[in-house]
Amino acid sequence: MRRKLLLGNWKMNKTVTEAKEFALNAKELGKLARQNKVDMGVCVPYICLAPVKKILKTSLIVGAENCHELDHGAYTGEISIPMLKDIGISWCIIGHSERRTYYGETSEACNKKLIALLNNGLIPVYCCGESLETYEKGETKAFVEEQIRTGFKDISEEDASKVVIAYEPIWSIGTGKNASKEIAEDICSFIRSIIKDLYGSKVSNRIRILYGGSVKPNNIKEYLTQKDIDGALVGGASLDVNSYKELLTNLL
Ligand code: PGA
Repeated sequence: MRRKLLLGNWKMNKTVTEAKEFALNAKELGKLARQNKVDMGVCVPYICLAPVKKILKTSLIVGAENCHELDHGAYTGEISIPMLKDIGISWCIIGHSERRTYYGETSEACNKKLIALLNNGLIPVYCCGESLETYEKGETKAFVEEQIRTGFKDISEEDASKVVIAYEPIWSIGTGKNASKEIAEDICSFIRSIIKDLYGSKVSNRIRILYGGSVKPNNIKEYLTQKDIDGALVGGASLDVNSYKELLTNLL
């Protein structure tokens, strides 16, 4: 049985002061999530990681939104995996569509980051998903397949099942135009079949696949009751502590 996973993605939102306030108000939620066998957490801006982790400790997952694949060096403005580890961070989003679109991140670059995170014992949340244009041309599956195969290149069977995949159609992110549960399930089940082809059914049955894109408290349940959707990556609705709580309570 795969454990459900609910992850917030704050993107470039919240000051440290606002983040601490959120963490104090969300702290108790971890117990409810655990009682109901749900893993729950937030991925937050670098500057908020240490203060939020200090408050939440192990009650909720605290993850980064990106990282560099090298341990150290002359890369102005970047954050390395040892820096994340040093403050107790063990989760990191990789290849979010906003990073791919605005910062030119390719699946090859994501692959290096996935390998580096896994070598350091961190859990990557690898994002994939197509643009509206690709969707309208009916090329979603070919596009996503390439993202998955390239992203998982040279990753061992043992490591592969530790990765969390998030399918987020770009046309549904922050637009309120969420993919129907049928579309989301069709692509998540297709992604699982690619993982099966790459690693066999032991890994494909174990790996967690999330849907993301305009997930809200009022629609989360319809996604999470699909066979191949194990959770959600949530942007906007994870910013307000009340709607963040409702994401969990509406799921139960
Ligand atoms: P959204 O963002 O929930 O605001 O659509 C999802 C994401 O980008 O991860």
